[in-house]
Amino acid sequence: MATAQAIPLTRHAFADGSFKQMLIDGKWAAAASGKHFESRNPATGELLATVAEGDAEDIDRAVAAARKAFNGPWSKFKPFERQQVLLKLADLVERHFDELSSLDTLDMGAPISRTRGTRLRVLGMLRWYAGQATSIHGETIPNSLPGEIFSYTLKEPVGVVGAIIPWNGPLGASIWKVGPALATGCTVILKPAEEAPLTSLRLGELAMAAGVPPGVINVVPGYGETAGAALAAHPGVDKVAFTGSHLTGQSIVKASAGNLKRVSLELGGKSPDIVFADADMDMAVPGAAMAVFANSGQICSAGTRMFVEQKVYDEFTDRVATFGKGLRVGNGLDPETQIGPLVSVQQLERVTGYLSLGKQEGARAVAGGERLTEGSMAKGYFVPPTVFADVKDEMRIAQEEIFGPVISAIPFNDMDELVQRANATTFGLGSGVWTRDVSKAHRLAGAIRAGSVWVNCYQAMDPAVPFGGYKMSGYGRESGLQQMEEYLNVKAVWIKTA
Ligand code: NAI
Ligand code: MG
Repeated sequence: MATAQAIPLTRHAFADGSFKQMLIDGKWAAAASGKHFESRNPATGELLATVAEGDAEDIDRAVAAARKAFNGPWSKFKPFERQQVLLKLADLVERHFDELSSLDTLDMGAPISRTRGTRLRVLGMLRWYAGQATSIHGETIPNSLPGEIFSYTLKEPVGVVGAIIPWNGPLGASIWKVGPALATGCTVILKPAEEAPLTSLRLGELAMAAGVPPGVINVVPGYGETAGAALAAHPGVDKVAFTGSHLTGQSIVKASAGNLKRVSLELGGKSPDIVFADADMDMAVPGAAMAVFANSGQICSAGTRMFVEQKVYDEFTDRVATFGKGLRVGNGLDPETQIGPLVSVQQLERVTGYLSLGKQEGARAVAGGERLTEGSMAKGYFVPPTVFADVKDEMRIAQEEIFGPVISAIPFNDMDELVQRANATTFGLGSGVWTRDVSKAHRLAGAIRAGSVWVNCYQAMDPAVPFGGYKMSGYGRESGLQQMEEYLNVKAVWIKTA
């Protein structure tokens, strides 16, 4: 049952400092090498768990288990039975939702208000995938060959899937990969990020309890350069579903060439969020602010290039800065916290590096701009909401993905020029438009080269609506029927009937 009370969770049953093993073939196992790594709370530095550190040998074992399950018991599951497993898993995730969401908060820092707020999305995804399990089908297709010959298609699961996910929302990211695999009849090796592996392991445990056969879901924590790279290159893997940085995406594509496995990539962005003078400002101010500050800016589709029409630029930027300054930064376990820490010291260094760079490039920090180190903040990786004004298109803070709570505010005048400037990025994941003028909204929805356009809102997501990138934000789609196709092969069957 959901409870609204404050969370006394410095001790969490799954993050009690103990050793966590990896899940292979339905069994919990230490790494073949015996190695392990630590997972710590980024708000406090406190040790949450030591975790088995998988590498190539463990990936080999997991791929063998996934193949055996794919060819064996799992292939016998009827669509309705796969649906039942997904629904059972959804029920278990619902029952344990508070535990799972607080595990995300402990492991990667996001405020409990945010992780608890993913309830509808997380359960909605599992149940939507459950619905898909019984909806997959081929087609009969009339052909024009002479004589009597009949043709139809079959949809078949692509096989063994390597799922490599980042740390910025472990519960949702895990389900986004495991869900379609279960729905289509694939098997999966889930490689969580080294920064936040715990929720994926706990989800694996719940999947076993839901009746997922051994080997169908394997969870192998470990580092990207070892476990991740081994999974991407493995000849026994039929598809890699990856979410993370574009640089890692490129190395995954290269690694996939050995067996030409299928790849889908959901990468980063530098998304334009465009504010017209005619916008409803009371809606646009918090909207544009949280399009970046949510999850401390650690969201792939964050609207980090805030283009504001010149005549309202000063006022709007000022209001967004004031909004940012009013947000409560702190330990994610505090129910009042709105902005948690960054996930790791590496991420802190990366973001503070961009804060210095922005100032060197001549931008002006009108909110934030420095790491927070007062009192208990010193133990964590806290960066306050930051707004840079006077940003020019060519500055690196306007071109590169920072992945922190940093807005680059850029003025514009002319609509045609705006379109060209908004698209002048190597990325194309998200975008926002704030206006009361419906023709401007439609025009931009067509002109922006990005996988999602949000008008008078930002970051809306639904399991039925495809999400993904243009350009270097990757290829393939997650959610929607398009995602199901990523996990399916289509086979043509011809039968001569006379
Ligand atoms: P990353 O792309 O290196 O890590 C994401 C996942 O890929 C992790 O599970 C990691 O272990 C794995 N990985 C790393 N190297 C790999 C390799 N060679 N082969 C296979 N798997 C590999 O991202 P990282 O280092 O966590 O963050 C760096 C930057 O990337 C961030 O500051 C941000 O700009 C961007 N990023 C974007 C994300 C998004 O959602 N689009 C998510 C995470 C990071
Ligand atoms: Mg990395």
